[in-house]
Amino acid sequence: MASISIQHLVKKYGDGFPAVNDVSIDIADGEFMILVGPSGCGKSTLLRMIVGLEDISSGDLKIGDRRVNDLAPRDRNLAMVFQNYALYPHLTVYENIAFPLRLAKKDNAEVDKLVKEAAATLELEEHLQRKPGNLSGGQRQRVAMGRAIVRQADAFLFDEPLSNLDAKLRGQMRTEISRLQKKLGITTVYVTHDQTEAMTLGDRVAVLKRGILQQLATPRELYDNPGNLFVAGFIGSPPMNFLPVEVDGTSAKLPFGSVELPADKAQKVAGRGLLIAGIRPEHFEDASLTDGSGGSTFQAKVDVVEWLGNETYAYIPFEAPPEVAKQLHQLEKDLDGEAMRTQLVITLDGASRIKEGETAEISVDASKMHFFDPATGENLTVDPANAGQIPGAAVPA
Ligand SMILES: Nc1ncnc2c1ncn2[C@@H]1O[C@H](COP(=O)(O)OP(=O)(O)O)[C@@H](O)[C@H]1O
Ligand SMILES: [Mg+2]
Repeated sequence: MASISIQHLVKKYGDGFPAVNDVSIDIADGEFMILVGPSGCGKSTLLRMIVGLEDISSGDLKIGDRRVNDLAPRDRNLAMVFQNYALYPHLTVYENIAFPLRLAKKDNAEVDKLVKEAAATLELEEHLQRKPGNLSGGQRQRVAMGRAIVRQADAFLFDEPLSNLDAKLRGQMRTEISRLQKKLGITTVYVTHDQTEAMTLGDRVAVLKRGILQQLATPRELYDNPGNLFVAGFIGSPPMNFLPVEVDGTSAKLPFGSVELPADKAQKVAGRGLLIAGIRPEHFEDASLTDGSGGSTFQAKVDVVEWLGNETYAYIPFEAPPEVAKQLHQLEKDLDGEAMRTQLVITLDGASRIKEGETAEISVDASKMHFFDPATGENLTVDPANAGQIPGAAVPA
């Protein structure tokens, strides 16, 4: 096992476009690192540079303390774990796991020892003589990992391994991969465009946009302290709401009315003119279900209600001035999304009795609000001590 150090990596393809643009990430020994971002942001390119399938245009790549820029893939001792359909259907589980050892012409005794050790770790012992076609999805995933384990690689690399599976199986496999990675303690780099996979699997998550690292942080840091609009909009489901806001003293004027801000938050943004407020759906509540002590409330006409039993989604349209609408439209494009941004999506307790068409009293936890600069997208209220690394941010003096 080993750490992986990525320093100022750049990849320019033939047309000169930087698919990966000056990305630096230090991955600790045993860490589960996620590379996440919308399609085309350079995740696969970065992973392929690590494994050696793509030349590095500039920058340094180290595995342990070895610079590996110029090493062939087979000399980097990394294992790319392919999707479960990369198993050979005509071979037994045993021979599928043994495959890289057979290629390396290991003797039978060693093959047997390594395959049996891997099978024990993966709880596949009783399936060794079966064919992959007869196994469950989770078992097949374990066979694919077994093949990587017997190679005794320094790290596992995954590129969207679950993207072709249906939602239920994807959930099961996610749990399986997480459990095994913890058990094996092996350094892992995992590419996905799915924020749920990023949040649930990663020790840390690197969020990329158009080849540029936006933020490198734990899932909790990304959720609580997104460095900019892009990260804020990408992490969280349903996504964070973005609203036009002006702050006067400690009062934040939103399209639905004003809410009172904590003094320290207000201080960072008062008098800055028109900003974008970010509020997560779960930081709203049906005011009739709260004891009234939890901050500000406002009245709004609820357009659509979706009751899910445990919770309720309510939709509230609003108008945004052109400066804000333009930035939000660009954000939608960046996120590869199609949600309509000028409606508030709020998550209420399932006990809420709010009805469609009703003007309801909604409370909001103003201490959880974020404020973004509409020109740059920067989060003006981020807590830098709990935000991991935000490469683009000005370093405080
Ligand atoms: N072989 C290639 N030649 C030229 N451009 C490429 C090649 N592979 C990828 N790209 C471009 O590099 C960018 C990043 O691609 P990729 O790393 O595959 O993104 P992701 O995996 O995040 O979807 C995209 O704009 C893509 O079109
Ligand atoms: Mg890709």
